[in-house]
Amino acid sequence: MSEKKERRDFSGGPLCLSGRNVTKTFGMGDKKTVAVDHVNFDFHEGEFVSIVGESGSGKTTLSKMLLGLMNPTEGEILFEGRARDLSSARKKREYWKGIQAIFQDPFSSFNVFHKIDSVLLDCINMRGGRNLSHEEKVRLMTEACSFVNLKFAELTNKYPFELSGGQMQRLMIARIFLLKPRILLADEPTSMVDACSRATILDMLLDLRDETGMTIIFITHDIGLAYYISDTVYIMEHGRFVESGKADEVILHPKAAYTKRLISDVPKIHEEWDLSTVDLLAKEE
Ligand SMILES: Nc1ncnc2c1ncn2[C@@H]1O[C@H](COP(=O)(O)OP(=O)(O)O)[C@@H](O)[C@H]1O
Ligand SMILES: [Mg+2]
Repeated sequence: MSEKKERRDFSGGPLCLSGRNVTKTFGMGDKKTVAVDHVNFDFHEGEFVSIVGESGSGKTTLSKMLLGLMNPTEGEILFEGRARDLSSARKKREYWKGIQAIFQDPFSSFNVFHKIDSVLLDCINMRGGRNLSHEEKVRLMTEACSFVNLKFAELTNKYPFELSGGQMQRLMIARIFLLKPRILLADEPTSMVDACSRATILDMLLDLRDETGMTIIFITHDIGLAYYISDTVYIMEHGRFVESGKADEVILHPKAAYTKRLISDVPKIHEEWDLSTVDLLAKEE
């Protein structure tokens, strides 16, 4: 496996998001599904965390609870060490200033009838920039676009459907760059883009973390990507964390049978897409 950039140890650092016995069940009786089953976690400020598991392991359900879009059936989630209060629309909006998401399909997150610049303008307004001068708003949007290697001047007056999947996903990252949440949750953000864009997007997420110190929670079925990008990994099987820890320790010295099986699939990934070329691909663009 290719060696990833410097990894950091965040244990003991300030906590960002924690979970205690977080559980979500759907249905009742014979139809009951325990999608997330008593998981515990501590995500730290500035940490790049991956949650890795196959389809159906509970990743999206956990994401929705982290985002406050769904309540746990049992257990609790703490934001910066305190229980979250999501009891009103206003309190939810307050929470969403601290946590934002990008999803698998970037097109689903946009109103297709809104031009690109209005998407970015909304972010500036949400961050309290409504009264900034037009020039200052353009400067901020230009800076956000150049962070993700897009040219603002070429995007103004375009609609989302005029961009490629990779460009759209980069625009999503530009949005996050403007919104500057404490936490970014990225649920399979690269699964619908080609390998070249994938490498670029992964490196942009790392830059975003380095530049802003935000916590990134990266959700993936691909343990190779998790190895490439994360400080810490949580391996999820049937709604449980079967193993977690520093990416190198968990992936190079797996203990759980499930982790070993996920890793045994990686050589196939290498044939399709050699992780060692990731940096080269990113620079080409
Ligand atoms: N709204 C729902 N109602 C009933 N079952 C659900 C619902 N959402 C997810 N599930 C079930 O919960 C389990 C975990 O799903 P999900 O969180 O989507 O996993 P993943 O994102 O890892 O593929 C699956 O068995 C799925 O069928
Ligand atoms: Mg999912």
